[in-house]
Amino acid sequence: MADRYLHLTGTAPGRFLTRRLGLPQPVGLRRWSLATPSLDGPLLHLTAGGSLLGDTLAPVLAATGLEVVRRADRPAGIVVDATGITTAAGLGGLHAALHPVVRSLVTGGRIVVLGTHPSPEDHHQAAAQQALEGFVRSLGKEIGRGATAQLVRLAPGSAAPAESTLRFLLSPRSAYVSGQVVELTGAAPDPVADWVAPLTGRTALVTGAARGIGAAVASVLARDGAQVICLDVPQAGEELGRTADRLGATALPLDITAPDAAERIAAAVPGGLDVLVHNAGITRDRRLANMPAERWAQVIEVNLDSVLRTTDALLEAGTVNRGGRIVATASIAGIAGNNGQTNYAASKAGVIGLVRSLAPRAAAGHGVTVNAVAPGFIETKMTAAVPLLIREAGRRMNSLSQGGLPIDVAETTAWFAQPASTAVNGQVVRVCGQSLLGA
Ligand SMILES: NC(=O)c1ccc[n+]([C@@H]2O[C@H](COP(=O)([O-])OP(=O)(O)OC[C@H]3O[C@@H](n4cnc5c(N)ncnc54)[C@H](O)[C@@H]3O)[C@@H](O)[C@H]2O)c1
Repeated sequence: MADRYLHLTGTAPGRFLTRRLGLPQPVGLRRWSLATPSLDGPLLHLTAGGSLLGDTLAPVLAATGLEVVRRADRPAGIVVDATGITTAAGLGGLHAALHPVVRSLVTGGRIVVLGTHPSPEDHHQAAAQQALEGFVRSLGKEIGRGATAQLVRLAPGSAAPAESTLRFLLSPRSAYVSGQVVELTGAAPDPVADWVAPLTGRTALVTGAARGIGAAVASVLARDGAQVICLDVPQAGEELGRTADRLGATALPLDITAPDAAERIAAAVPGGLDVLVHNAGITRDRRLANMPAERWAQVIEVNLDSVLRTTDALLEAGTVNRGGRIVATASIAGIAGNNGQTNYAASKAGVIGLVRSLAPRAAAGHGVTVNAVAPGFIETKMTAAVPLLIREAGRRMNSLSQGGLPIDVAETTAWFAQPASTAVNGQVVRVCGQSLLGA
């Protein structure tokens, strides 16, 4: 559904009027396209209080393709290495680094602060490193003009595991991701032969792929070189066929809650699966007092139980190849809760529990990562059905003052799916423009 307000503020009279009335000022986001594949300007590399990454960061920043500089009048991105901050006083280095330059960041620019994991043995280091989280989340809320801010925590020693993450966060692909904290393990990235099509030779299956976010995910994975299988319920067969045809993908009409769903998926991928995206989801909203047991059960069954069942069965059968990537779809409702959505929010919070618990074991036992996207307000048929006032509130109550698009969730999923994202495991990344809900 078109966001007319965003169009209005994109015009000079609209901007003038809304500014005079003190209304939100969303900036049209610049997303990835062949014409705009990267940020438009240099990447400013700053260090605040020493680094635990030595000289490993420079080549990783250079790999983004941006011009990396130590001074810039109008940077398109700023990376601050704050891994060496271990005391409260040391946080002054962060202020000293960013205070003079934050205003010069271009519209739609990116700030990424690099930190390290708060230590369970050193509460001074833990305090200083945890402080970075509050800093980044506040910065995301105040920079405005379509710019974003994130914190990436790295294991000390090497920045190499962060390459795919920095390429994503410092690009137009992450336009609707802000205020996030991404914790990386020290796992070395799997080699990437071609960063333009990193999924070449890989097979990906997306559930709920006939339309909406799932269709966008399938499209982006195909763009990145994957052979895609689009799964959706048989009732959506026609739409599913159209989506699959458009992408040169295979259609698999199948209800994911069917008892033999995992076997049928395995039969459809004789060479195994490299990317498994659990996107299918439903809502059956009612307040708890009015909710019949069947509405409760349907939502838990589709959104959570089938995800648990198929994940277990496909991992146990060895259908997910080593180096595989499992991506589940949560929601900010699973973090913040929502009136009338006890069933939905429970299912999506359950997805987060699944991801956090399984991720380390899946990596150790199968060489597979498990992560979740948690979309906020995304412009789809699901949200078009929301009453006008609630829809407007959902769109504006975030740092970017607008709804996201299915492509934003898809780009985040594609980053998780990359061979080079081995160090991204057990993460729940919100694609919500830093929604105030559950912030
Ligand atoms: N749209 C949003 O703002 C938003 C926000 C947060 C989370 N999400 C989540 O993102 C995912 C996609 O949402 P969407 O907005 O694209 O929804 P949508 O309703 O447009 O698409 C969901 C798809 O899943 C399919 N599906 C439903 N039950 C299935 C089953 N049993 N087996 C196979 N396929 C099934 C549907 O047929 C449909 O094609 C869902 O998990 C949803 O909960 C969406």
